[in-house]
Order: sequence, then C-alpha cells, then structure tokens
Amino acid sequence: MRSLLWLAAVGLAVAEDGLNAWLRYARVPSASHHLGRLPSSVVTLNATQGFPVHTAGEELVDGIRGLFGKKLTVGKSKDTTATVGTVSAYVDKNPSAARGLPDLIEDGFYLKVSKGNVLILGQNERGALYGAFHYLSVIAQGNVSDFTITSNPDAPVRWVNQWDNMQDGGTHGSVERGYGGDSIFFWDGYIREDLTRAGQYARLLASIGINAVVANNVNANASILTPENMDGLARIADVFRPYGVQLGISLNFAAPQLLGGLDTFDPLDKTVVNWWQGITDNLYKRIPDMAGYLVKANSEGQPGPMTYNRTLADGANLFARTLQPHGGIILFRAFVYDHRSLNQTLDWKADRANAAVNYFDGLDDKFEDNVVIQVKYGPIDFQVREPVSPLFAHLRQTGATIELQITQEYLGQQAHVVYLAPMWKELLDFDLRVDSKPSTLKDIVSGKRFGQKLTGYAGVVNVGTNTTWLGSHLAMSNLYAYGKLAWNPELTSTGILKEWTTLTFGHDKLVHDVITKISMESWPAYEDYSGNLGIQTLTDILLGHYGPNPGSQDGNPWGQWTRADDDTIGMDRTVWNGTGFAGQYPPEIAAMYENIETTPDNLLLWFHHVPYTQKLKSGKTVIQHFYEAHYRGSATAQTFVTLWQKLKGRIDKERYEHVLFRLIYQAGHSLVWRDSVNQFYFNKSGIPDELGRVGNHKYRIEAENMELKGYKSYKVSPFEAASGFHCVVTETNSTVGTVKTTLKVPTGKYDLAVNYYDMALGNSTWELFVDRKLIGKWKGDLEYELGRAPSPYIDGQTATRKTFKGVRVKKGSELKIVGRPDGLEPAPIDYISVLPEGIVD
Ligand code: GCU
Repeated sequence: MRSLLWLAAVGLAVAEDGLNAWLRYARVPSASHHLGRLPSSVVTLNATQGFPVHTAGEELVDGIRGLFGKKLTVGKSKDTTATVGTVSAYVDKNPSAARGLPDLIEDGFYLKVSKGNVLILGQNERGALYGAFHYLSVIAQGNVSDFTITSNPDAPVRWVNQWDNMQDGGTHGSVERGYGGDSIFFWDGYIREDLTRAGQYARLLASIGINAVVANNVNANASILTPENMDGLARIADVFRPYGVQLGISLNFAAPQLLGGLDTFDPLDKTVVNWWQGITDNLYKRIPDMAGYLVKANSEGQPGPMTYNRTLADGANLFARTLQPHGGIILFRAFVYDHRSLNQTLDWKADRANAAVNYFDGLDDKFEDNVVIQVKYGPIDFQVREPVSPLFAHLRQTGATIELQITQEYLGQQAHVVYLAPMWKELLDFDLRVDSKPSTLKDIVSGKRFGQKLTGYAGVVNVGTNTTWLGSHLAMSNLYAYGKLAWNPELTSTGILKEWTTLTFGHDKLVHDVITKISMESWPAYEDYSGNLGIQTLTDILLGHYGPNPGSQDGNPWGQWTRADDDTIGMDRTVWNGTGFAGQYPPEIAAMYENIETTPDNLLLWFHHVPYTQKLKSGKTVIQHFYEAHYRGSATAQTFVTLWQKLKGRIDKERYEHVLFRLIYQAGHSLVWRDSVNQFYFNKSGIPDELGRVGNHKYRIEAENMELKGYKSYKVSPFEAASGFHCVVTETNSTVGTVKTTLKVPTGKYDLAVNYYDMALGNSTWELFVDRKLIGKWKGDLEYELGRAPSPYIDGQTATRKTFKGVRVKKGSELKIVGRPDGLEPAPIDYISVLPEGIVD
C-alpha cells in the first residue's frame, strides 16, 4: 500500500505525460468544501492482496487523497466509512441485509452513497473494483451528493485485443498497426522482464469495465507457447489479476507443426487434439484464471482448418473442447477471406464483402457452447464507413462479439484526431430487422435478441510504451468510450466525452466546449476528406493504410475495390446485377440496399456502381459531392487548430503542446488528402469542379517551377500525391539544394506554407528565407514525432506542410528554401503557398 500511495503522490507532482490517462486523481475544484461528504476510512471485506477487492481499497485511498487531499484510515472507524467487497462477503457478515440488495449479474455492482458512508458491493471481486472506480469517477467529476445505483454490464465478453508481436522488426514492427510505441508485453521474442506498464494498463482497463486482454497479435507467433514464454505469460496474468483482467492468448493454428514437430495440424487428427490439450492444460497450470483463446484462421495467409478441408467449426471446436475443463472460452474470428483468389477484372460478382457470411454458412449450430464468433463491425476492414456486417443476422445460436478498432488503422493512425464513439453508436443502433423484428446490433451483441449466453465486445487497442499509451492524448477518449459502450451501449457519445474530458483535463468549461466541438466534428471531417459516399477510406492499402492513394484500392486481389474508371465508380453489390452482397441481409434491409433510391447517400458507392454524374439526394452529382466534401472536411480540420489554441494556459503546457503539434500536422495532411483525392478523380473523370477550386491553386508556387540549384524535378508516384504531379529532390544525397523565386504579391503580411515530404529515411533540414532573412528552419523527423506507419516513399503518406504565419513580404521579395538531404532523404519540396491572411490552400 505504501508504495502505491507514494506513487500516486508523485504522479500528481510530475508532468502530465498521459500515463495516468483518466485516472489522474487531480484535485477537484473547492475540494476542501466536500470533505464532510466523503468517507474517512475504508473497509475491505475478505480482501486478499493481489485480488480486486484489495485493489479497490487501495484505489479508494489513493483516489480520495488525490482528488480531495483527504487521507482515509484503513479499517473501521467511528466516522464515515467506505465498505467494499462482494455481495456474498457482505451478506455473510450482515445476513439481514440480503433482502435489500438488488440482483446483480456477473461483474455487476451496487453502490450506495449516503452522507459520506459508501457501500460498494460487487457480484464478484471484479464487480467490487468496478464499483470503486465508478464511485471515484463520480466524485472526481465533483459530485459528492448521495446516490444509489445498480449497474450490470450489457454483455459478458468485454475484451481487448492487442496486436503485439513477439519481436520487433518485420513489416509491422513491435505492434502491428500500433502507433504508440513498442509492445508493453514482448521484446526480442520473450515476455518483458519489467511488466510495470502491463499492470498500469490493466488498471486503466479495469476502470472502464474491460475483463480480458489478448496480449499477442492475431497473426500469432507459435513461439508464444514455449515453456519459457508460458512462464512469461503467467507473469503477465499475475500483474493483471489485481485488476480482475484475465489474460487471453492468440494462437497460430499451425503450432502443432511449427512448434510441436507434428507433421500435421489437421484439427481432427488425434495427435493434434492431444497436443493442443497438453498446451491448454499447461497454460492453465500456470494461469488458472486464463480467459481463453483468440484465433484467426484461414485469413490473409494464416493457417486454419480449411487447409485440411475441415470446416471453421471443426477448427473452433478443437480449442473449445480443450478449454472446457478449465472454463475458458474461444473467440473465433469471422474475418476469414482469401486475399489471393479474388479477380476484379474477370469477375464482376467477385466480392470480399461476401466472404464471412459464405464461410460461416450452415455452421451456426455447429459450434461448441464456449465458442464466440468475433465479427468486425463491417464486412471489409475497419473503414471510415461500412454497413453493419450481415453476419450478425446469421448467428442466432452461436454468440457474437463485435470487433471494433480503437487503434485508428484506417482512420488517421492517431496522427489525426477522430473520435470514434459516434461511429460505433451508429453501428450499434442499426436495426438489422431479423425476421422483421427489432434487431439492433447492440441487442444482438448483448445476447438479448437471440438469447445466447456468450456475446459482447472485442476492441483492438494496440497501446505501446509511449506514455500517452496510444501516441495521442485525445485518442484516449476512444479507449474510454469503448469500455463505456461495451458496458452500456445506451450511453451517448457526448456524455461519455464529457466524463472523459473532466477526468482527463479538468472542469474548465472552455476546455470542454473545445474538446467536444473538435471531437464531435472529427469523424465527419475525416470521412469527408478521406473517402465519403461509402467509397471507403481511400488510403494506400498496399502500404501503411495511412495517406491518400485512391488508385491502390483497385487492380489487386485484396478486394477493397472501388471499380472507378473514367465514367463510373462504386461497387455494385446488388442481387439483380452485382455481387449479391445486399442479399445477405434480412429482407427489409436487403431491399433498402438493393434499391439505389433507398440506399442512404453515405453508403451509395458501397452498394452501387454509378456514373460520376449520378445525382444524390442532395441534388449534387457524385463527383461534385466528392470535391466539396473534401474541401469541407479539410476546412473543418483547419478549425481544430484555432479552437485548440484558445486553450493555451488553460491546460498544462505539456499536453497542450503535444495536442497542438498533432492538430497542426492534421490540418496540413488533410489538405494533402483533399488535393490528392480530388486530383485523382478529376484526372479520371475529366469533370471540372463547378466551384473551380480543384486543380486551381492561385497562391501556390510549384517548387519545380522555381529556380533550382542542386535540386531537380521529380515525377511523383502516385501522381496525385504532388501538386502539379512533381516535386523537387536534391541532385545527390549530399548536395545542398536551393529553390528560389521572386514574389509578385503586393507588399504585406502572408502565411507561407511549405509542402514537403518527410520520409523515414533520414532527417533532412530545410531553411526558408525571405530576402535573405531566415524565417524558419525545420527537420524531417516526423517519423519520431508521429507514431503513424513510417514510409520510405515520396507519396501521400509522407507529404506534409510547415506553415510560417504572418511573414512580411514585399512585391519583388526573393523567397528561397535551402534543403539539406540526410541519409536517403533528398529534402523533397512540393510547393510553397503564399497565403493572404485567413486563406488556407
Ligand atoms: C487488417 C490489418 C491487418 C490485420 C488484419 C486482421 O487487414 O491491416 O494488420 O492483421 O486486419 O484483422 O486480422
């Protein structure tokens, strides 16, 4: 206890680096006025060190001390008391109290606050800890009034998936699609010795009701099952246990062969079954409370039962049976598709979106009771907008979890702020109308609609060693919202945000207004500038899934196609003429999507293949809508910077600057998105923007058109990733280059914006001069500043902008940039915008 108290005290004094996220326990305003309404002592019932009730007691002591400066004594006092424990421990002591207590389901809690006395009872130990965190959250928000609540989770499975690799290196580094640093669990093929961060992570997760973490990547390395690594996994489980977080493990289906030395991994082969039983028994010997397994099979090159012509159910049941004696469950992923066989040119009806329902067809009643099917929210892959996966309507006997992605793989990789709760709410509220009855997705994944026992939520989180966990302070609202919605999907996006903001940044109204505005506008803005009308995130799907590259979607077997040609665009997923995907939904929904008139505009191109001149419900054509949405979205992103700047001095400097840096970056990169996508479709369709903006940038000076010394013109690929399709690069890796031009603008103050490329191959430097006066100097080191996928190319991933505000220039001034290459980065420059005040282009 002492060490924890000490840490909490230090935690308050040290910098706001994000480590404590929403559990900062920062002093509430007028704290001293509330002391009388708080407990003075804490009593834990039947607590054992290292288990959740004991943790709950410690948290209450630390929390109240941090929030109010009040030191609780431990043990019964004659004053007010916080009592925390399980219902059964409480009733053992007070048999007569049993009748007054509400019904709790697993992990649920009851909380009664009365004149400073607090009773926190969990259905189990974990529930008691959840109750303690709930109480602390309420008082941290400044509410010390009496209240009573009974809170039960909406679904039993509330898991987090980490996509951590055993080893750094390879295409994905330490954490696949992770943007917050290296794995907190693994290093160099083993489990880390120091698991402090793993324990801190469990604390955060417990405070939002998460009950299990799968620590390793779904693309699993079989070596996680060596005896040494099993011992390491047991250490992870040990640091999770005080928080009631159970450990889950991703399996490689071929492990019997890869690790076990068998000549097969056929799930029906007796030796394979025995091998897995041995592994499972060994794991449970070390980790008696292990949550279970997660399996990705026959997908994106991973092995699976279909390798032996066995069904997915044969595969899932193999593990389910080994887990049954131990009470574990298996989450078997529905993300099954063959990324090699789809042929866009030869087959109009080919469609990756069809895969899940097709593969699971006829299997619903074939799974063991402890199998849960983990289904990504949409049929493709975490795109900025997808319809709800129709598989949810097909699984009526076997329970489903919805797989959400907190890590923003296709949504800006935490370098763009995108608050995801509004998107998740839309999905969860969607009514699939199964058998023409109300069938919202949230009722399906809670088990209410079809009555399955095991259902719920799985969130891909991918935190890393960065003290901000996700690489961005604002991105943490997504993790918070994920846990909150998995517990109660009726909560509102703004309500969750309000709570998170108070806990993370305090009570200042302006801080709240700004964070709410930015957050609530962020998903629509990102959708506007990255891919709207249901065309998907038009990112580079072959490289980092980060910057724009609309052309990369088509012409490959990955199946994230747009089928854009010179005249038309969109996937025809109708039954009458297309891939038939719309027909996978229950009839009412199928009919809605089959018909272009009843398909909502925001999914038009998901379901229909139309001319660019197709009129939308708004009266605009598809192409004009594209142009305008990309302008609108990126304009919104510019406002995030000015909004945030209002908070200077109102929050700590460290987090203020960290967020500001990213918002400025996002504003610049949103312009890259806007121009790349618009330029791409303008080039394809030849249809000009009615508002005359696309392709016309009167404030820009292309670097390739300036006077070059030591620099040469370079044709960029994809072409749309450069203004004028070209940039300049230094003639060699050691030549210092200069671009120069004479400005013709009237004398005055201008914002000078330099668009350049910051590749992950070196740290070039650039210096901007006006009339030989140095305006600014900067370095190409974004690969260290932003966790987003690094790229070695001059493309939409690396394109970025640096702006110098309010620079005085004269008519006839000489503008010059000196670029110094570094490593293999040739100090690339795309263009310079000389912008009159208030204009961004
Ligand atoms: C996406 C992602 C992969 C991941 C896969 C999955 O395709 O890009 O990195 O492995 O999803 O969910 O299995």
